[in-house]
Amino acid sequence: ITVQINKPITAVPPAMWGIFFEDINFAADGGLYAELVKNRSFEFNAPMMGWKEVKQDSATGHILIVNRATENSANPRYAQLSVNAAQGAYGLSNEGFRGMGIHKGEQYNFSIWANGRDAANLKAKVVLLNNSGKQIGEAALDQFSNNGWQQYNVSFTAADTAVKGRLQLLFTGKGEIDLDMISLFPAHTWKDRPGGLRADLAQKLADLKPGFIRFPGGCIVEGRELASRYQWKRTVGKPEDRTLIINRWNTEFAHRAAPDYFQSFGLGFFEYFQLAEDMGAAPLPILNCGMACQFNSSEVAAMNELDPYVQDALDLIEFANGSVNTKWGGLRAAMGHPAPFHLSMMGVGNEQWDEQYIQRYKVFEQAIHAKYPDIKLVSSAGPFSKGPMFDYLWKELKTSQAGFIDEHYYMPPEWFLANAGRYDHYDRTQGPKIFAGEYAAHTKEGKEAESRNTWGSALAEAAFMTGLERNADVVQMASYAPLLAHVEAWQWRPDLIWFDNLRSAGTPNYYVQQLFSVNKGTQVVPVLHNGAALAGTDSLYASATIDGPAKKLLLKIVNASGRPVQLAITLQGGAATGEAPVNQLLTAATADFNTLDAPQQVKPTTQPLTATGNKLAFTAAPASLNVVTVPYR
Ligand code: AHR
Repeated sequence: ITVQINKPITAVPPAMWGIFFEDINFAADGGLYAELVKNRSFEFNAPMMGWKEVKQDSATGHILIVNRATENSANPRYAQLSVNAAQGAYGLSNEGFRGMGIHKGEQYNFSIWANGRDAANLKAKVVLLNNSGKQIGEAALDQFSNNGWQQYNVSFTAADTAVKGRLQLLFTGKGEIDLDMISLFPAHTWKDRPGGLRADLAQKLADLKPGFIRFPGGCIVEGRELASRYQWKRTVGKPEDRTLIINRWNTEFAHRAAPDYFQSFGLGFFEYFQLAEDMGAAPLPILNCGMACQFNSSEVAAMNELDPYVQDALDLIEFANGSVNTKWGGLRAAMGHPAPFHLSMMGVGNEQWDEQYIQRYKVFEQAIHAKYPDIKLVSSAGPFSKGPMFDYLWKELKTSQAGFIDEHYYMPPEWFLANAGRYDHYDRTQGPKIFAGEYAAHTKEGKEAESRNTWGSALAEAAFMTGLERNADVVQMASYAPLLAHVEAWQWRPDLIWFDNLRSAGTPNYYVQQLFSVNKGTQVVPVLHNGAALAGTDSLYASATIDGPAKKLLLKIVNASGRPVQLAITLQGGAATGEAPVNQLLTAATADFNTLDAPQQVKPTTQPLTATGNKLAFTAAPASLNVVTVPYR
């Protein structure tokens, strides 16, 4: 194998390896968004879902769910409690998202909006219970005002850990009080932002060093019908003013139904932009193009009714980049971020196809580029990887101003192995670049939630990714999908990261993504075997980049066979320095996978190698990804 470090083919695009976030599998509510209270503002279709009335001793009372839709259309419902608890206590308990994950010794912040109607004699206790009903935290709220809605806050430290904790809000005394936005957050969140993101999950995303983050979906962008599409303007501003909707994944797959799956939008567009900035990733929002999900309905906005959809796209650019003196830039500043978020690209539609899509895409393109010519647009290739509709979309988009075409492939591992050369012969003439926006190798299902994320699936993806890297002049962004999944609340698998209420685990596929991303380099260089690219010969796959400023070769070699392969590598145009090369090796039995209980079954290890002059020899283990770093001069 010869690596021509002196013959760079193309620069590695800075955003090459990224992540795709969608609120599927409890990724946002119940996952990354650290709120522990489910249905905090009683807006789920069944307003008491997640809540139970609590009566202790001889206390009595009743709960009314009041709707004030004309006064407050974003957050119409609240709970009105009448309490008669001279002895005992009366109130509510909340079950959390499949329970509440509570960590011993950590601080928790409780907050509530309350409107005392006759509350002078009421006192409240906030109680945290563990899985078996034992109290593990308590705080008091001793005074409520009768002077309108006010927010009350109290903090406490958990005495124990619980994976399925629950919260009680218990009143004593006699009186009436209205309650809304009943909330409990860990004080420790990502960047310790109040009301923020679950730190371990955000850290796992950041550890991927993503070049971009595509958000908020996926099918949730489209909605089952247009009324339930994702509308970013309803996800910004104060959390209590964001309009909850049913999640498109709420009723999918009856045997794994999540009837309690809604989108509170506590994690909304501002937070997505902020997360992107935190991680040094380029933000890539995807907007509805006036079409509902074509798998669910054929509902489209009439061509003469597209204006609000297009306006949403224009206003989003203003929200992200506009001066603080503009309407939407001003809102960004009011939310705490006067500096722009440097939005440079935007997706129009998710997995759309057909003439309806092309017609609508062109309207967006014309309007966006008339006002913001530098914004790169991402258009859809539908759910196809080939076929007449794929060809039609490509033909239409090839001559458009689209910056990228978003190709998706959920296929068996064999497809990924066979398609490692997919982009070797793509048309390189003028036209859009490729965004491999959603892909994952799908294997057979097993009992454990994480069982489809086998090493065999990840290995096939690694082989395919050598083809993406080799063709980085054409394929300029790529992201695995989906990203996150709760082991008790998933609708789709495999996924990149699995979690429960306390723990999270990277899959073998996660480590593949990470190895490519952190070893991205600055320029792609040729790897040749008998003068040709290695894209499956003898089950070997390879690509390489150099980190120009650091003078390091970053060679990726996949051995997809079941036997060890001895490799003799020659560096052309450079020689190894005295500093030893290393191999970041990922290998396992192809059926192995990581679980929350055994999260490190498949993980990379680092092995020293030896190079002499411009020669390097090592044995690639059976079923292995090898990322070989060679300092050179
Ligand atoms: O990633 C899961 C789903 O797959 C996405 O929502 C959609 O874009 C695709 O069909």
